[in-house]
Amino acid sequence: MNLKNDLLLRAARGETIERTPVWLMRQAGRILPQYRALRKKVKDFKGLIANPELACEVTLQPVKELGVDAAIIFSDILVIPEEMGLPYNMIDSVGPRFQKTVKNVGDIKSLHVCDGDELDYVYEAISLVKEDLNNKIPLIGFSGAPWTLFAYMVEGGGSKTFSKAKKFLFTESESAHKLLDMISDSVIAYLQGQIDAGVDIVQIFDSWAGVLSPEAYNNYSLPYLQKICNAIDGVPIIVFAKDAHYVLEDMKEVKCDVVGLDWTMPISESRKRLGKKKTLQGNLDPCILYSDAADIKLATEVMLKEFGSQKHIANLGHGVYPDTPLDGVKCFIDTVKQYKFE
Ligand code: CP3
Repeated sequence: MNLKNDLLLRAARGETIERTPVWLMRQAGRILPQYRALRKKVKDFKGLIANPELACEVTLQPVKELGVDAAIIFSDILVIPEEMGLPYNMIDSVGPRFQKTVKNVGDIKSLHVCDGDELDYVYEAISLVKEDLNNKIPLIGFSGAPWTLFAYMVEGGGSKTFSKAKKFLFTESESAHKLLDMISDSVIAYLQGQIDAGVDIVQIFDSWAGVLSPEAYNNYSLPYLQKICNAIDGVPIIVFAKDAHYVLEDMKEVKCDVVGLDWTMPISESRKRLGKKKTLQGNLDPCILYSDAADIKLATEVMLKEFGSQKHIANLGHGVYPDTPLDGVKCFIDTVKQYKFE
């Protein structure tokens, strides 16, 4: 299988690229009028991700509208907790709410490791997208990181501090490790299922890395990222641990190809901490995209120059915010695609 545009994969593997590839976390979603129109026609978000034809359509919307260098399969990180035995509702303007949460060892006993087969609807959507893409650009698969999924399972939804989830880590350490290990095994099966269905690269989102201390991260997140990265075979892996610049040196030891960065640390410092080997992804502050075109262009060019012409995948430092003007998004993407390194 030869992709017509394999810039993202070459950049991930550290091979020579003639320009920096670009895609956006959360590119499939509310920034697009096409998405908002389709979303009105279905009962809820979960109905959308569980329907392979519609998930395929939404995955392809940003490819057509924005000209990005990769598609990301339309789904959510919360499908894993759900399949492990904790169903959730996605409430408009509120976010996810779990009907049950993990409070003690007994609750963990009632959960199970998924073997990945339960998520057939995601694999079916992947097959449909691959067929439609016709080898034009790569397709990204994804999962939440064990710590981030654990945080939702204990907390039952979003939180400013994740203090319930952290309390569980610090007061029920053994049980916490047991659950983190069960999540890791589920994630491995799920990512392998996505790879078997055809994704070309995978990203692991550790969205709540930033609420942990370096010690806690080393104890409760990193070993499980290691376990997953050691088990995954066949495609490059991107790890995005948001707000965890304190862990960049340790990330060197994780068997991933790409490390995603948020905007909270100078690019040169991140590179210094991580070393020269891995590709970096990121890291424009998504709020820059609310600015006018000239400012977006300037900030994007400054970012590109800082990262350099190789071993970089352009992206934002977090998912694009739903109310971002489409013109701002397009300006960012077009600036990356047109930029010429001296
Ligand atoms: O384009 C893409 O990136 C692919 C689709 C995707 C979604 N969620 C769709 C979605 C991806 C990769 C995710 C990952 C995800 N989901 C993360 C990690 C990335 C991050 O933002 O840190 C997290 C933490 C979640 C959990 C989640 N899903 C929350 C907290 C929410 C509610 C907040 C929100 O953004 O609305 C969701 C809902 C969600 N996931 C939407 C979309 C398009 C909005 C649903 C809608 O249409 O109303």
